[in-house]
Amino acid sequence: MKAILAKQPGGVEQLTFVDLPIPQPQENELLIKVHCTACNRADLIQRRGFYPPPPGVTEVLGLEFAGVVEQVGNNCQGNWKPGDRVFGILPGGGYAEYVVTPAELVMPVPHSLSFVQAAAIAEAFLTAYQTLFWIGELKADETVLIHAGASGVGSAAIQLAHSTGARVITTIGSEPKATFCQSLGANHTINYRNGPFSSEVSKMTNDQGVELILDFVGASYFKQNIKVLKPDGRLVLIGTLGGSKVESVSLLTILMKRLKILGTTLRSRSVEYKAKLTKDFATNFLPLFETGELKPLVDRVFPWTQVKEAHLYMESNQHMGKIVLQIHNER
Ligand SMILES: NC(=O)c1ccc[n+]([C@@H]2O[C@H](COP(=O)([O-])OP(=O)(O)OC[C@H]3O[C@@H](n4cnc5c(N)ncnc54)[C@H](OP(=O)(O)O)[C@@H]3O)[C@@H](O)[C@H]2O)c1
Repeated sequence: MKAILAKQPGGVEQLTFVDLPIPQPQENELLIKVHCTACNRADLIQRRGFYPPPPGVTEVLGLEFAGVVEQVGNNCQGNWKPGDRVFGILPGGGYAEYVVTPAELVMPVPHSLSFVQAAAIAEAFLTAYQTLFWIGELKADETVLIHAGASGVGSAAIQLAHSTGARVITTIGSEPKATFCQSLGANHTINYRNGPFSSEVSKMTNDQGVELILDFVGASYFKQNIKVLKPDGRLVLIGTLGGSKVESVSLLTILMKRLKILGTTLRSRSVEYKAKLTKDFATNFLPLFETGELKPLVDRVFPWTQVKEAHLYMESNQHMGKIVLQIHNER
């Protein structure tokens, strides 16, 4: 089968098609023919050599897939059979014609959705679901600040938080992104290029601040994040796009406001953890894709032969929602 990896750490010129054997499923695994995968920021960071796959995981890029079950291991959970349309997260290997994955990590593609749409759900929505609700403990009467609201994860988080009744404030870097986030349910948008977001959050909350922040910008936002959290507030950190080293922070505010600062990465979690997350999300939120209350947000679809163009497009930060790579062409 064909698959894509980075020959050496570096730019898009390192992205290369390679020939690999079709993986063989273990007794608890499914073999899946991949129709679509999606680009994630993490793929770009891995390509540059700063986010290696967890031990034992393939170097092939790709954290998610949508496709068709080809083969079922003889001790698989669930009633999966060849021909079933499925999607889910992976620790790696999604930029390939075939993947194997434990059966408990896949979800059925909702009937009304195409493979392109399904490929835009798993990594963004499972990350957003886990961080907002399992880790961030968001409640309906709370206000959440979601940074980079038009990103894959941000746009999923806005929809999930809005659907549970929470008030959503989001930061964005352009006016089209503001309109996009409002259409998803964001109550307020702040263009961080116009000045510090913390003063705007204070204005919007009558100086009360927010209960929860979902952040992947990191160092450059840390001081403002601490400032706008309410007493007992929670900061969930899932990335460091704006740097990882924070200098000259007074810990007193964290102490006096009794803040919780929580970091997490989904990719390195155990299969058991991901299986529970997948099941919880599928039970609570997957039906909302059938009713249209939740939407997979596909900005652009690239044939996977144009993977370099897709990575460059993501790096340009113009996209809103997800960038999908099409591998096989059927619906
Ligand atoms: N820990 C986990 O389990 C986990 C899981 C999934 C994703 N992640 C992380 O979540 C983040 C988002 O992933 P994604 O695939 O959804 O990303 P994405 O769609 O590529 O969106 C990233 C957006 O962040 C904004 N941005 C980039 N650099 C920034 C900076 N220095 N300061 C402020 N904003 C910046 C840009 O939007 P603007 O134009 O608005 O600036 C950009 O479009 C990544 O850091 C990824 O590694 C973590």
